[in-house]
Amino acid sequence: MFLDLNDPGLLRQQALINGAWLDADNQQTLDVINPSSGQVIAAVARCGTLETRKAIAAAEAAQLTWKQYSARQRGDLLRSWFESMLEHIDDLAKILTAEQGKPLAEAKGEIAYGAGYIEWFAEEAKRIYGDTIAAPDSDKRIVCIKQPVGVVACITPWNFPNAMLTRKLAPALAAGCSVVCKPANATPLSAYAIAELACRVGIPDGVINILTGVTSEIGAEMTSNPKVRKLSFTGSTEVGKQLIEQCAGTVKRTSMELGGNAPFIVFDDADLAEAVKGAIVSKFRNAGQTCVCTNRLLVQETVYDEFVQLFQKAVAELTIGDGFDEGISIGPLIDAGAAADVRGFIDDAIAKGATSISDQTITEGMPETFVAPVILTGATPDMRVFSDEIFGPVAPVFSFKDESEAIALANDTTVGLACYFYTRDIGRIWRVAEALEYGIVGINEGLISNPMAPFGGVKESGQGREGSKYGMDDYLEIKYMCMGGINS
Ligand code: SIN
Repeated sequence: MFLDLNDPGLLRQQALINGAWLDADNQQTLDVINPSSGQVIAAVARCGTLETRKAIAAAEAAQLTWKQYSARQRGDLLRSWFESMLEHIDDLAKILTAEQGKPLAEAKGEIAYGAGYIEWFAEEAKRIYGDTIAAPDSDKRIVCIKQPVGVVACITPWNFPNAMLTRKLAPALAAGCSVVCKPANATPLSAYAIAELACRVGIPDGVINILTGVTSEIGAEMTSNPKVRKLSFTGSTEVGKQLIEQCAGTVKRTSMELGGNAPFIVFDDADLAEAVKGAIVSKFRNAGQTCVCTNRLLVQETVYDEFVQLFQKAVAELTIGDGFDEGISIGPLIDAGAAADVRGFIDDAIAKGATSISDQTITEGMPETFVAPVILTGATPDMRVFSDEIFGPVAPVFSFKDESEAIALANDTTVGLACYFYTRDIGRIWRVAEALEYGIVGINEGLISNPMAPFGGVKESGQGREGSKYGMDDYLEIKYMCMGGINS
């Protein structure tokens, strides 16, 4: 294998069902392609309805035992899994870069970030608390306990093949749930590699099941099978809405981390050098392919030209290329279709009067998955870059007059995941933070994701929170017990 792994056993290509690595029943496979080179790097099992049903049955049986493990036992196993991921960080990062394209250093960062969720929830497993509640009658007592939801189905995206999975698996397992996961077909190898490590550290058979294949079949079985009690999805708002509808038939709980349209507001009292640093990290992380990436830069008109000048200088320093090459800051987009969509945003904005001030010749001769970072000045709300998620390295810069216009522009969207603003005025910090209709607010900060903080959005950006002390609640049911006859 050309990846030159220290531990080639991590490169799994079969589905994991009930602790066994299996081909699809019909032996079919799906190619996994390196988006930098177009090379086929693996062929994974192409599973469908029957394999999904088997995985769900295995998860149901395994959960009966898993929920009886003590919180400490579950926490200890998660801790060993976390440590094993860090031991294998170099191999896991290579696998991630090969299938997803992001620069190797960024891939290592993702492995540490993803492992961080496992570490966090290994500890939180021991902190599942119930309640006693004052009863209305003297011969009654009220007690609430928390119990695992049961079998959880997880569907995860290609942009963070490691961290989006651990962010669901870790709280689910800590709570005592078992899981059936469907990673994106474009990036299944990272999921299989961490599942291999989970098996090695002793997480029991059937507690984690992972399969790739025919998305519509796997999704339909996950959402309709009554044994599945919860679905957790990260992906587009459009698909999230369909899954919520499909889950209604069996009244499953859902957690949804859906699309964003993050504004990044720069007020005229901001530290512009810091604002530029924040804009670079929040716009170009993962080549602009994150749900929390800045989508719209909103800059106060009095500092518009100065900000754009500094931003242009910083963007010119970004390097684009194969994620395995030294010093690369931006890799390819996931596939040619994604790159064509992003180019469509640029064309639409230019046709409506925006100006591109970046050097787009830097990707000449590269495969079509590479899109050069682009700044669009003179952006206006009638452009698609204002209303739709770009998911690529395109930075449209809009201007505003005052605070109330900035807030109105920022909130003028159907979604509400992350937003950012830069100002040194303490009163404005509170006013603006409270007025923004978003689940996550970066204030003088462009990098907001970490396992200790609640990640999630409002409006059409989804339901539920991942990570933090709140993240476990999504995997627990509250059971109220009323005890009577106390005085007899
Ligand atoms: C996402 O794009 O859905 C997640 C990004 C993050 O965790 O920072």
